[in-house]
Amino acid sequence: MPDILLLVEGGGSGASVPMIILVVALVGFGVAYFLVGPGRRQGPKRNADIPLAMRPYHSDEELETTGMERAMSWGVALAVFASLFLPLYWLIEPNRMEGRIDDFYQQDVADGRVEYQNACASCHGVDLGGGSAPHPDPDIDTPWPAPALDNIVARYEESEIVEDVREYIELTLVHGRDGTPMQAFGVASGGVYSDQQLDAIITYILSVQTGEVPEPDAQAFVGRSGDDLYANHCVRCHDVGGKGRVGPQLINVFERYGWEPGDEESAQVARDVIKHVLNNGRNVPGEAPMQAFDQILTPEAMDEIIDHIEGFQELTGERFAQIGPPRADENGSD
Ligand code: HEC
Ligand code: HEC
Repeated sequence: MPDILLLVEGGGSGASVPMIILVVALVGFGVAYFLVGPGRRQGPKRNADIPLAMRPYHSDEELETTGMERAMSWGVALAVFASLFLPLYWLIEPNRMEGRIDDFYQQDVADGRVEYQNACASCHGVDLGGGSAPHPDPDIDTPWPAPALDNIVARYEESEIVEDVREYIELTLVHGRDGTPMQAFGVASGGVYSDQQLDAIITYILSVQTGEVPEPDAQAFVGRSGDDLYANHCVRCHDVGGKGRVGPQLINVFERYGWEPGDEESAQVARDVIKHVLNNGRNVPGEAPMQAFDQILTPEAMDEIIDHIEGFQELTGERFAQIGPPRADENGSD
């Protein structure tokens, strides 16, 4: 589209009408200058037979009086016009740009909504309220929960493992999560979506945030064993007995955090680290993240699960080998 059309078309806001008037005024001025401006249609009729340099022009008298006056009044007119046109344009322009940005935004939201319904709704819910997907291992019947996306900003707003929610969603979309039902959608990782399409989907998701995060339902955990809770929330990634799958093995997680069998104090340190991981999640850049469970499990339910994990601990001599020593920020207790 030629620039001039873009300029006049405006941005769907009220700014386009003043812009049209301004552009028409500019064009009108130009035409007037061309038709009756200085140096036009004056002097003796030009004769094509006379060489250019020898053609008669205005007389001296004309040049010093009417000719000069005309040129000067056009100069004044031009100055007045510019002094009105530029400030008006300057006033209108930001409004117009905002209008256009808003148009692009609305277009992204509309495109993103369509793509979301096609590619994501089956697992994350038509209303983004969350859902589930079949386990990638056909022998396992338990479905895999797909998190709600209409509160993802609120869920990660104060997270220790996510700095920038938009970027986090983008990384998840581009690369997917190995070993989980969340496949890669970005072209770079074998998906079918261009950066622009992914961007539209993310814009759509961010446009429908509710900001509400439900509290864990304490009633749901009454009377449930750690074994049962572990099976429900952890097995899909850490496997039965902590053998490890998508997530690291937990058979020796106590050992990795300094546990000496029989020493209650060192056991407590390991328990605190695990509780910290459960409350905050884990996200080492470049590795699959583990979500925070503080919005899913109550502290009591976490304790039950940690008891269960403690129950299957073995000494494997792999202390620190897998994930390195505990980080300084991980020995707080909460
Ligand atoms: C086959 C089911 C399935 C489809 C289709 C799917 N997802 Fe997922 N998605 C999941 C599951 C399961 C998880 C959780 C993975 C895990 O446990 O780490 C997930 C995780 C996510 C997360 C991270 C959420 C969080 O709280 O950390 C985002 C963001 C996401 N999906 C967005 C999308 C978008 C956008 C689409 C569509 C382009 C999509 N997903 C399509 C199943 C799916
Ligand atoms: C979606 C898969 C997934 C689920 C579900 C999951 N985890 Fe994890 N978990 C991981 C991954 C991946 C890591 C490693 C993250 C990293 O370091 O980047 C991890 C790390 C951990 C760690 C730290 C291990 C260490 O050596 O520091 C603990 C402890 C843990 N998970 C416990 C649990 C418990 C208990 C549950 C159930 C309430 C659970 N996880 C549910 C994927 C998962």
